Order: sequence, then C-alpha cells, then structure tokens
Amino acid sequence: MNNKVIAVDGPAGAGKSTVAKKLSEIINFTYIDSGSMFRAITLKVIKEGIEIDDIDRIIYYANNSSIDFINNNIYLDGVNVSNEIRDSLVNAKVSHIAKIPKIREAIVIIQRRIARNKNVVVDGRDIGTTVFPHAFIKFYLTASVEERAKRRYNELVNKTQYSFEEVKNQILSRDYIDSHREASPLKQAEDAILIDTTGKNIDEVITELLYHISMNGGI
Ligand code: DC
Repeated sequence: MNNKVIAVDGPAGAGKSTVAKKLSEIINFTYIDSGSMFRAITLKVIKEGIEIDDIDRIIYYANNSSIDFINNNIYLDGVNVSNEIRDSLVNAKVSHIAKIPKIREAIVIIQRRIARNKNVVVDGRDIGTTVFPHAFIKFYLTASVEERAKRRYNELVNKTQYSFEEVKNQILSRDYIDSHREASPLKQAEDAILIDTTGKNIDEVITELLYHISMNGGI
C-alpha cells in the first residue's frame, strides 16, 4: 500500500476542515471530511423524526441510507446536503449520534474504502487513533475555547438565533461528549503533532503543516 493518509484531528472549531481542505488542494490529495458523514446521518434522524435514544431505529436508518461524496459535496440518498448538515440543530445532536459504536463502525468502513487507492487528507476526531493508526503523518489541531467559539459564532448566518455564550456552551458540550464517549473518543494520538491555531490564520497553519510534512520526508 503506497498511498498516503494525512490525519487531522481535534476539537470543534479548531480549524480542521478549512485547513485540511486547503492542504488537500495544495498537495493534490483527496479530502475526506469524516464529521460530515456523522452530520448526514444526524440530519436523516432529525428529518425522520427519530428520537435520539432510539438506537435501533437510528442504526436501521443509517444502514439504509446512501452517503456519497461528489466534488467535495456530500449527498444523502442522492440529495446534496452540504449546507443543511451545518444547521445548528444538527450541531446540537451530532455528538449523540457519533457516540453509537455501530454508527462509528459503518463510517470507519466508508473512510477506509475511499482511502484504499488514493492519497487522502482526513479530518475528524479519531482518524489518527482508530481509523488510520498507520497514517503517514498525524496532526492534532486545537485552539482556546474562546477562539473556537468566536469562529463558530462568526460563521452563523443569523446571529440573532444564538448568543456568543450559547455557541460557546454548545462547543464545550460537544467537546465533553466527544472526548468522554467509550467508542474511540477524541484524543491526541501519541505520535500526532500538536498545532495550536489560536491567533493564527489559515495560511500560517498550512505553512506549519507543510513544514512538518517536508520534515517527514515530503510527499
Ligand atoms: O468536525 P465536525 O464538527 O463536523 O464533527 C461533527 C461531530 O461528529 C463531532 O461533534 C463528533 C463527530 N465526529 C466523530 O465522532 N468522529 C469523527 N471522526 C468526526 C466527527
């Protein structure tokens, strides 16, 4: 297996998806946004009106849904849901869905299938620890909670919907659930390179990642 995996893990709002996507474009790798898969299943659960604790039905619906990536857009049952999965209702529920081991197993299989014959940059919570433990290089991105909440708050289209404090609390709650669940919790892999993105712009972070990649023998 000569194809390379670059793992980018970290908590919500650390800048993973923006950085991982841009990095993938620069080095011409395929980008896999693993969080978007958990989000797509969460959207389906919301649309079908399934209760968050009805695990059997959630698993049934997840197993009977199709998730595809076309040109960096995510399709759920043939419909482009790239925007809808960023909805705050999905934000509030996704960590509960991502706790379910059978859902995680299904999503691990999809990620490994996509990466089988390709060079990929994958962002998520458990990429370096569980999904691709032998990744070519692993990064763990983080930032202060104030800065992560500020980034998420600035992304909100309708700023009257939530206050800054509410956005911050939502981030803290997701961090807690993601890092305390039993199945592959969010944690830095022992061999991951820690990058604190507080106060740094995207280009500064990308430059740091490219430096580490070149120190690792380049691609
Ligand atoms: O990166 P994101 O905010 O789009 O991720 C949404 C949620 O999905 C996150 O709160 C936890 C979960 N997730 C996960 O458990 N494992 C991953 N590899 C990616 C995301």
